[in-house]
Amino acid sequence: MDELRDDQKNNDFRVPPNLSDYEKTRSEFRWEDIHEELDFLPGGGLNLAYEAIDRHLKTDKKDKVALIWDGKGKVEEKYTFADLSLLTNQFANVLNSLGVSKGDRVFTYLDRVPELYISIIGIVKAGAVVGPLFSAFGTEAIKDRLLDSGAKVLVTCPELLHNVDAVKADLPALEKIIVVNKHNVPYTPKENEISYEQAMSEASTEYEICQTTKEDYSIMHYTSGTTGKPKGAAHVHEAIVGHYATAKYVLDLHADDIYWCTADPGWVTGTSYGIFGPWSNGVTQLVSEQGFVVSHWYDLITKYRVTVWYTAPTAIRMLMKYGEKEVKKHDLSSLRYINSVGEPLNPEAVTWSKDVFGIAFHDNWWQTETGCIQIANYPIQDIKPGSMGRPFPGVTAAIMNDDFSQAMPCGEEGHLCLKYPWPSMFRTYWNKKELYDSRFKNGWYITGDKARQDADGYFHFVGRADDVINVAGHLVGPFEVESALVEHPAVAEAGVIGVPDPLRMEVVKAFVSLRDGFEASPHLKLEIKKFVTEKLDANSAPKDIEILPTLPKTRSGKIMRRLLKARELGLPEGDTSTLEE
Ligand code: PRX
Repeated sequence: MDELRDDQKNNDFRVPPNLSDYEKTRSEFRWEDIHEELDFLPGGGLNLAYEAIDRHLKTDKKDKVALIWDGKGKVEEKYTFADLSLLTNQFANVLNSLGVSKGDRVFTYLDRVPELYISIIGIVKAGAVVGPLFSAFGTEAIKDRLLDSGAKVLVTCPELLHNVDAVKADLPALEKIIVVNKHNVPYTPKENEISYEQAMSEASTEYEICQTTKEDYSIMHYTSGTTGKPKGAAHVHEAIVGHYATAKYVLDLHADDIYWCTADPGWVTGTSYGIFGPWSNGVTQLVSEQGFVVSHWYDLITKYRVTVWYTAPTAIRMLMKYGEKEVKKHDLSSLRYINSVGEPLNPEAVTWSKDVFGIAFHDNWWQTETGCIQIANYPIQDIKPGSMGRPFPGVTAAIMNDDFSQAMPCGEEGHLCLKYPWPSMFRTYWNKKELYDSRFKNGWYITGDKARQDADGYFHFVGRADDVINVAGHLVGPFEVESALVEHPAVAEAGVIGVPDPLRMEVVKAFVSLRDGFEASPHLKLEIKKFVTEKLDANSAPKDIEILPTLPKTRSGKIMRRLLKARELGLPEGDTSTLEE
């Protein structure tokens, strides 16, 4: 897998400054040249945290603001690269003092406060594998991920401790919980809990970053599939090569930019492009603790003179709903370049942004597994509205037939595949090597997406090849939702599908049958929705629950989601020969 492709060999070209000549750039691009723009650790290793923060200490970026934090309640904090270096050194020391060593898994479960970013970088400095958990996750969602990863330490806050307390008896590997009390709530540490503030105040600011190699694990994000619990896509330190290059050439980050990525680090966009991409380029970035509030978002762009913005189609559609009037109340003239990822970006959103901001959203495509952007509309080329763009140099994408033996003719739908390897690709699904291996065939990585490629080489998203549901850019696994549903005392069996939604792309719809003694009622449906929200998260909770006497099953007892979906959407039911009588 480490073999280079022929077109990557025998080439001593330096990375071109832009993608104006797309074909030429592609033929001359070598990932090795990107390595040369990065530094290695003084001892020769490669470490994401060093590339993002500490290497800038040797340059004039040392005292540049790296992080502007917009906290709730109009609080603001600023941190330079030098500040972050010292704080993350301290946090790495705290981890070592708790017995954390290279390769241990350390997870975070925090809102978007500066301490989240300090923890993530500190964990990586210590050579541990960081697993950021979305702070809106409920009990089952955190338990599944902490259990599967065998996380040894968790960094959280008093506001979320009740969820941790509810599951920690089921987590034998979890030894310590570090509690960040950003909002100074009354809190006394319990057994195995450590106050972040106290531990940091006692820790040295000097630290020698762990000598990780490019193939050591650095970060893992859990992602949902059709079957089974979420899988931990594990990345290595070499991923920084992809983060750095794509942040530079796709997001077009320059030294004087003020950049804002709206994604939470609980999802891959929030780490690859909310931490490592911008900071490895030495760019100042904005982080807002608050979620989506339209006027606040525009206020932030105005206040901080944001130049480059990376967000998601659902948010853009929400902005469109509020319309031009809201835009006109703000001075958004600082915006230079805007990008979108996670779901198909409708052509109307591209046109709308051009009309109201004067610049258009550039869509790009990638996945948790790919680690960095693979297909994109580029800064200096015309956008094809409705298309995800063309492959990044160094990336080969194709539309393959059902057995992955041949490329489909131009314009025809098929499986979107990528030639491997590339530096930021995932190296395993944690504890699920077989599943990982099954994603590769005939030299291709199978993305699980259906797409087509047009005559100009642009890719167009068609849909998922599996049952995964995309709710506002977040993948929801039907199996996880079904598992949560059947834990409710009233639910006998459950089948979950995605149904189209004009704002959020898809929403979850659940079909359930009830246990004896339970009556269908609006109250029960509400209770079931709340139950799933508390176990998983709001995106996974069914927007609609339909109660049926029984669910369609195969003769072997498997609920036929495909049939539920066909019936719901009025599509042909296809082959029903295995349907239980
Ligand atoms: O189905 C595709 C969709 O989101 C999936 C990846 O989700 P995740 O691993 O959570 O990573 C999200 C952020 C990178 C893809 O397999 N997707 C992503 N970008 C696009 C997209 N669908 C259509 N257009 C896109 N630009």
